[in-house]
Amino acid sequence: MAEREEWGSRVGFILAAMGSAIGLGNIWRFSYMTYSNGGGAFLVPYFFALLTAGIPIMILEIGIGSMTRFSAPFALGKVAGKKAEWIGWWTAIAALILNSYYMVILSWAFLYIFKSVTLAWGKDPGAYFFGNVLGLTDGPFILGGIRLPILLSFLVIVLINWFIVSRGVKGGIERACKIFLPLMWIIVLLLVIRGITLPHGLEGINWYLKPDFSKLANHKVWLDAYGQIFFTLSLGMGTIIVYGSYLRKGADVVNNSFLISLGNCGFSFLAGFAVFGTLGYVAHVLNKPFEEVVTAGIGLAFVMYPKAISLLPAGKALIGILFFFLLTIAGLSSSISLMENTVGILMDGYKLNRMKATSIVAGVTFLIGLIYTTGGGLYWLDMVDHFISYYALALVGLLETIAVTWVFGADKFREFVNSVSEIKAGSWWTVFAKYLTIAILVILLLLDIYSLATEGYGGYPGKALGIAFGYILLGMIVAYILHSKEKLDITKEVS
Ligand code: ALA
Repeated sequence: MAEREEWGSRVGFILAAMGSAIGLGNIWRFSYMTYSNGGGAFLVPYFFALLTAGIPIMILEIGIGSMTRFSAPFALGKVAGKKAEWIGWWTAIAALILNSYYMVILSWAFLYIFKSVTLAWGKDPGAYFFGNVLGLTDGPFILGGIRLPILLSFLVIVLINWFIVSRGVKGGIERACKIFLPLMWIIVLLLVIRGITLPHGLEGINWYLKPDFSKLANHKVWLDAYGQIFFTLSLGMGTIIVYGSYLRKGADVVNNSFLISLGNCGFSFLAGFAVFGTLGYVAHVLNKPFEEVVTAGIGLAFVMYPKAISLLPAGKALIGILFFFLLTIAGLSSSISLMENTVGILMDGYKLNRMKATSIVAGVTFLIGLIYTTGGGLYWLDMVDHFISYYALALVGLLETIAVTWVFGADKFREFVNSVSEIKAGSWWTVFAKYLTIAILVILLLLDIYSLATEGYGGYPGKALGIAFGYILLGMIVAYILHSKEKLDITKEVS
């Protein structure tokens, strides 16, 4: 068996895994989630979800990757038997589906770097984004044709991903993250300083940090928090497992998991200061109550931020370029990890070489992403994102946690991670992962299904939701077919 690729250094791994975690989710998604859930109120369930599910599952994913030195299907197969491999194959498809729309959002951000130079959105950034850029149609069944600038930008993003991932773990991914990560932290700090020093910026921060505990009675806020934690930490996507599988034998698991998770959530928390400080300023200039400054939703980063940029006293274009450049590199360091999951699985499972596997994954991602470049694409993006981040990631999280804690054995797993880690996973890990995380994930999934059955989602027609849901189910079937054709027999592999 060929030598497995490895990270060049511990810092290299931490930067790559943090790069996978920090992405559009930390800026684009975190700000609209926080905004729609009443600002500071969202931080309580968010940090609760980080502690009860985020960190325990991060330890679990890095741990099984590093223990088995295999990508998700085979890592799970090794710890919980052949049948568990299917869960990992499903991550190969789920990561592909996720990446196909993730890269389209990334392509909007990339386009907006150039649009910032001339403040192309003019006086009405909302109308510009939804009308001129997306060409949004009246509903999901009116596709309205492909938007050429988005298509070209999407192609560039896919090619950059292909370029980095095809160069391998150390020569491609690690090298790229060593450049992206320091840049991301520097830019976010600059934007925070700008946000909070704007007149009335601190009023926005006050709103951001002031929890409204009455919101916590609504279970939807909790669903959003758990969905966001999975998304933001790249859990349930297979990526953290495959990154863990490239660790040297004996590399630390627990300490690294804390560093990556806390670094990621710290980044979101910090980015919130930039976003909400700016919102405070906008509310003041427009003389509107804070809650009415923008309508919450998927376009927040592409509507609110441009609006704020246009109102800035100075340096408008520069702040715009920095913000969208930040979104682009943060997104790239995540999209390469999503791609690497599927690439790593194809390499392990079908013995493909890296170049071939990367080219296949890049090509398929581009093809299945085309729908999101159309005028009706945003509707499909929103529905598919909902099903992936609320159901698919949590389902993988649930199944892999059962596989490791109940089938393999929580104590046996803890023994392994503790034998290599600087700080130990105490019995708290077993309590959280084996009982609490599983109980919470089951309750959340049931609540999600109940909400979907009774209220639908986002006001979309049932037929459209059915198609989006059917698409996810189809992905599961494809995962099953791929699984049944795999060439790697883990029972014969020496670990
Ligand atoms: N973890 C990545 C993000 O937050 C997917 O964007």
